[in-house]
Amino acid sequence: MHTRLAVVVALFTLCQAITEEETDNFGTTGMPEQNTGIVGTVSVTDNGDTWLFESNGVPDHDTATWPWPGVNPNSIEAKANSYNLPKNPTVAESPSCLPGGPIGMAVNGVMMFNPWNAFDENAVEGDTAEIFDQCDGHPDERGTYHYHKMPASCLFEDVEGEASPLIGVAFDGFAIYGPNDENGTRLTSDDLDECHGRYNSKGVYQYHTTTDFPYILGCYKGTPVASQPPGGKCYFASDANEDGNISDEVVVTTLASTTSSAYIVSPSLFLCIIIFLNQLLALRI
Ligand SMILES: *[C@@H]1O[C@H](CO)[C@@H](O)[C@H](O)[C@H]1NC(C)=O
Ligand SMILES: *[C@@H]1O[C@H](CO)[C@@H](O)[C@H](O)[C@H]1NC(C)=O
Repeated sequence: MHTRLAVVVALFTLCQAITEEETDNFGTTGMPEQNTGIVGTVSVTDNGDTWLFESNGVPDHDTATWPWPGVNPNSIEAKANSYNLPKNPTVAESPSCLPGGPIGMAVNGVMMFNPWNAFDENAVEGDTAEIFDQCDGHPDERGTYHYHKMPASCLFEDVEGEASPLIGVAFDGFAIYGPNDENGTRLTSDDLDECHGRYNSKGVYQYHTTTDFPYILGCYKGTPVASQPPGGKCYFASDANEDGNISDEVVVTTLASTTSSAYIVSPSLFLCIIIFLNQLLALRI
């Protein structure tokens, strides 16, 4: 009886979007940010069915001098970021749009944003590309330092031919990995779905950051915790044209205020358990 319970617990743990072991990826270098002198903080707390992710959002790596005259008038500020996200998130019946502002937290506590600027144009490439510092980030008008593009320079080691590490969590609870899959194969958006993710070999959904549009996320595959008040702009990467701009005709969707309630055995969790049992049987344990 106890053994069976232990197996069930083990299965739930194995099938988590972010495993206990992977929560160790969340941490900062302890380097004071050069403009503010503030040290970046990030922590993950086990809350039972959820992981609580908290950070002050201050980068733990080199930055430019912000404000940068003639480029960006904003300064970096410390925030009280707090996101309680399901350990076993469910793939939603239909994906959700990405609001402006934070859509995920990188493992160093820095916020991740969607691919667009305030005018719904591609913030990363083309005529409307914004200027980022040597570590791929910049602050917005609220003082939130953030990444729009693949944050490869300072956040994680992008090693050719090797599996990429977990680099963050999206605000639906699903993990965000670097651009290489578990066999070290380089991915582009063509390998991923419209939300910029796919199922791993455990049957668990995960996002990947890539160098091509939409760079980090294209939509939420699961149910996002509300990250901004309803009424803001909210888009799917599939609404963008070939330059990555949102075309004028797209209707702005208001964000429903959602809470994470996905603690039941989801189809993806079920799939993960089947895959795991299948592997166990193959090993004849
Ligand atoms: C990685 O390689 C293994 C063994 O060849 C394969 O079963 C698995 O599907 C591959 N994973 C991906 C994501 O391609
Ligand atoms: C994207 O927006 C920029 C800036 O408005 C514009 O120069 C470019 O032509 C747009 N691309 C498309 C395909 O609409």
